[in-house]
Amino acid sequence: ETSEFLIRPIEREDKDQWVQLWSGKTDSYLTFYQKSVPPDVTDYTFERFLDESVTMWCAVAVSKKTNKVIGFISYLTHLSTWSPTTYMYINDLYVSEKNRLGGVGRKLFEYTYKQADLKNCTKVYWSTQLNNHRAQLLYTKVGTFEGYVRYSRNPD
Ligand code: ACO
Ligand code: ACO
Repeated sequence: ETSEFLIRPIEREDKDQWVQLWSGKTDSYLTFYQKSVPPDVTDYTFERFLDESVTMWCAVAVSKKTNKVIGFISYLTHLSTWSPTTYMYINDLYVSEKNRLGGVGRKLFEYTYKQADLKNCTKVYWSTQLNNHRAQLLYTKVGTFEGYVRYSRNPD
C-alpha cells in the first residue's frame, strides 16, 4: 500500500480533529451544508461512535505524513422489510478541501464496504443532494444511481 493515508476506525484521541472536520468554522462537513448542530449533539454523536452497543460507526482517513485526520465517513445499520438481513446507511462523508481528488473518498467507501461485508449487510446505500455533482462523480464509480428522490417531514 503506497497511498499517503490510512483508513481506520475513529478513536477517542481523534475527537478534536473530527469535531473540526465535522463542525469547524471553515472546511467542515456542516459548513459545506451551511448547517449547525448543537455542541452537545456533536458530543453525543462522537460518544455513540465509540459505544459498542450502538450500531453507528465512524472511520477516519489519516495522513501518514502529518498524522492528521483528513477525512471521515459515518454509517449505521438498520432493519428492512425487504430482507431478513441488515442494511447499512452511509450518513456522512467528508474530505478536507486540500486533500480532495487523491482517492481519500473512494478509500473511505471501500473501507465501509468491507465493514458491511463483515456485518453481513446485504445493502449499502446513501443519498446526496441533487446538485452535489462533485460527490456524484465519486458515487457513480462506487455505486449505482437508484432513481429515488428523498423527502422529509423535518428537512434539516
Ligand atoms: N471532478 C472530477 N472527478 C471527481 C471529482 C471532481 N471534482 N471529485 C471526485 N471525482 C472522481 C475522481 O475522478 C475519482 O475517480 P477515480 O477514483 O476513478 O480516480 C473519484 O471521483 C473519487 O474521488 P476521490 O479523490 O476519492 O474523492 P475525494 O477524496 O475528493 O472526496 C468528496 C470526494 C467526499 C465528495 C469530497 O469532494 C468532499 O468532501 N466534498 C464536500 C462534502 C460532500 O459533498 N460530502 C458528501 C456528501 S453526501 C454524503 O455525506 C453521503
Ligand atoms: N393524480 C393526481 N393527484 C394525485 C394522484 C394522481 N394519480 N395520486 C395522488 N394524488 C394526490 C391527490 O390529489 C391527493 O391530494 P389531496 O390530499 O390534496 O387531495 C394526494 O396526492 C394524496 O392522495 P391519496 O388519495 O391520499 O393517495 P392514494 O391513497 O391514492 O395513495 C399512493 C397514493 C400510495 C402513491 C398510491 O397511488 C399507490 O399505492 N401507488 C403505487 C405504489 C407506490 O407508488 N407506493 C409509494 C412508493 S415510495 C415508498 O414506498 C416510500
